[in-house]
Amino acid sequence: MTQAITLSRHVIEEEHKHQGTTGTLSRLLLQVGFAAKILAREIGRAALVGKLGLIGEKNATGDTQKKLDVYANEVVIEAFAETGLVAGVVSEELERVQEVASGVEAKYILCIDPLDGSSNTDTNGVIGTIFGIYLKEKTPGVSLIDQVLNRGADLVAAGYVMYGTSTLLVYTSGHGVHGFTLDRELGEFLLSHRDLCCPEQGRYYAANLGHYHEWAPGIRKYIDYLEQSDNATCRPYSLRYTGALVADLHRCLVDGGIYFYPQDAAHPDGKLRLVYECAPLAYLVQQAGGYASDGKRRILDLKPDSIHQRSPFVIGSRKDVEMYERFLAGGIA
Ligand code: AHG
Ligand code: MN
Ligand code: MN
Repeated sequence: MTQAITLSRHVIEEEHKHQGTTGTLSRLLLQVGFAAKILAREIGRAALVGKLGLIGEKNATGDTQKKLDVYANEVVIEAFAETGLVAGVVSEELERVQEVASGVEAKYILCIDPLDGSSNTDTNGVIGTIFGIYLKEKTPGVSLIDQVLNRGADLVAAGYVMYGTSTLLVYTSGHGVHGFTLDRELGEFLLSHRDLCCPEQGRYYAANLGHYHEWAPGIRKYIDYLEQSDNATCRPYSLRYTGALVADLHRCLVDGGIYFYPQDAAHPDGKLRLVYECAPLAYLVQQAGGYASDGKRRILDLKPDSIHQRSPFVIGSRKDVEMYERFLAGGIA
């Protein structure tokens, strides 16, 4: 049997690669892992303990909340409350930046989508968690809100958890992308995907084609291109769409391919949120050799104006995303 590498051992060894580290980033990542274990357990038995269905409220960005959205947010907030590890938390489910009393002196800020793919909760589908970690500015007098409106390029770590056939935690702290599968009996995340590399080009695409007729002409042409047969470029591409960005992105990372959520009639600025969905996944996919864009610009270069800012989003294999950009720009007729 190969020697199992636990998440704890891995994050500590990764942190030692940076000079002058104190172990705080490792503890922070492990705390995300701890919250993920609680969520994996509770999601698995949600139907038995009355945690499925709607809560009857809307969140800060107007999305109808599921009970699991609210629960997942509480788990994350509680997991960090007494740790002193983060100064603040930006969450999809909270209107404002949540200041963490124990973390007044903390170096980091956590940005999180506690539960990604909420529409899948009641149908036993895949769901996830997305997170990004920023270093807090040292300049005195800068408010927390100003400190969280960072470019994705400034992230120090990011990752996601996928609650699927197994629970998988994937993270990067700037030295490659690594995946850990939860061994439920041991209660440990164990290294299962070392140095994930996103294939340069894929054979799959993921998008909600229900909005096809609302998309820009260049995007519709791109879909037509993906559906044409051409052996040399592995077309037609196969459609795979789960309704959970985490799951669709994970397929892109492993098998190659592209996920996109452009503007449409109901989402004039795009649907996905820059701070806790697009930027962390863009940082991670670029660490794995992939690419993420808003269709025109690199996601990592965008500086948000507000914590819940939305953006069109295209992510996955580099050549696929670049091709999408060329079609959108009208460069290919
Ligand atoms: P969330 O559940 O955090 O609101 O995110 C849902 C996102 C993303 O995960 C998914 O790809 C997309 O919204 C699904 O949207 P549609 O149902 O409009 O396809
Ligand atoms: Mn989401
Ligand atoms: Mn969510």
